Amino acid sequence: MSSLTGAVSPRAAAPDDAIRPTWASVDLAAIEHNVEEVSRAVAPAGVLGVVKADAYGHGAVPVARAMDRAGIAGFCVSLVEEGIELRQAGIRKPIVVLGGVYGRLGSSEPSGAHRGVIEHELSPVVFDLAQVRAFAAAGGSLGRSPVDVHLKVDTGMGRLGVRVSELDPFLDALDQLGGVRVAGLMTHLASADCEDDRQSAGQLAVFDDVLARVLSRGHEPDVVHAANSAAALRYPDARFDLVRAGLALYGIAPVGAPRATTAGLRPAMGLRTEVAALRTIAEGEPVGYAATFVARRRTRVATIPLGYADGCSRSLGNRGVALVAGALVPFCGNVSMDMAALDVTDVSHVAVGDEVVLLGAQQGPAGSGRIRAEDVAARWGTIPYEVLTSVSRRVPRVYLRSET
Ligand SMILES: Cc1ncc(COP(=O)(O)O)c(C=O)c1O
Repeated sequence: MSSLTGAVSPRAAAPDDAIRPTWASVDLAAIEHNVEEVSRAVAPAGVLGVVKADAYGHGAVPVARAMDRAGIAGFCVSLVEEGIELRQAGIRKPIVVLGGVYGRLGSSEPSGAHRGVIEHELSPVVFDLAQVRAFAAAGGSLGRSPVDVHLKVDTGMGRLGVRVSELDPFLDALDQLGGVRVAGLMTHLASADCEDDRQSAGQLAVFDDVLARVLSRGHEPDVVHAANSAAALRYPDARFDLVRAGLALYGIAPVGAPRATTAGLRPAMGLRTEVAALRTIAEGEPVGYAATFVARRRTRVATIPLGYADGCSRSLGNRGVALVAGALVPFCGNVSMDMAALDVTDVSHVAVGDEVVLLGAQQGPAGSGRIRAEDVAARWGTIPYEVLTSVSRRVPRVYLRSET
């Protein structure tokens, strides 16, 4: 198993190692609070906390423990090794492996992934017969038959899942094979965070029919789930037994979710650094690679030790903003691998060592403000998920428990 977990655990930078003053704060009290908020909004459905991709960059183990304390029903990961990492950290609640990739199929010996799933009691998502056969065989050879699986049906996402038109032959073959139990039935909505809800309505109608067909064939899934954060908060009909929430638990309001369900969410991640160098350049002088910024006035430039290798996208060159002394200031020039530059001309008394906030709140002599992942995403031309998951492993995570 060590090779599986080793794959996801090159040691992240630890706060004690950090010489550079660049760090990500993760507010675990905010995560616990968000679990409570979302749980209240979707009750009586339960909440699975989606902690794939290192809990969207927040750190899978501390975040899963916080969610566990707050009463989460279970977890979703993408990869088997992510599930094993949680088990090895002592997480005992159900863990659904969403990604559906379990390594080599067709061998007579269980692969490391199949063995890992079964021995660590993870709940694999399956959507093709090769997976079903492999789990049935692995369960048999490990004396753990039947293996509980979650069956994923493609109701319109067009990515993973048994096609609805192939559901009956798929179930015929699964029933004939034996060795697995359909413990969960699931689908995924493609457009839950789009204004137009016709695709979601269509997918939910198809899924209702799928559920009826699966039940009528004598399968008795313990749980049915379809909703991500947006669908969970927006569509009561999508909640079924469990919702799979990621974004909202990290404190970000999904697009389209009613304000009443998101007003109380608290962003958990902050990204902070300090001014590393200051210079005053004359009108006409350039800043950074390719001289994409040329001063139009005498300009005070603050260099910060954070760049695209830390998750501050190059797309933010001349477009991003940061908070210094509580004031919003613009990026100037291209973002480098390890550095970026800010135009602080309009903020008086900026000094080397002053705090700079890229994500999160700041109060200072020049005012107060907050930069949200949604704001960064809009400037970057992406979605908040990418902003959060891009904060790289060399940025130490510092876990806070602020209550406000
Ligand atoms: C299958 C599945 N369910 C749920 C989620 C959680 O989505 P969200 O973070 O929007 O709540 C994801 C995330 O991408 C997913 O892939």
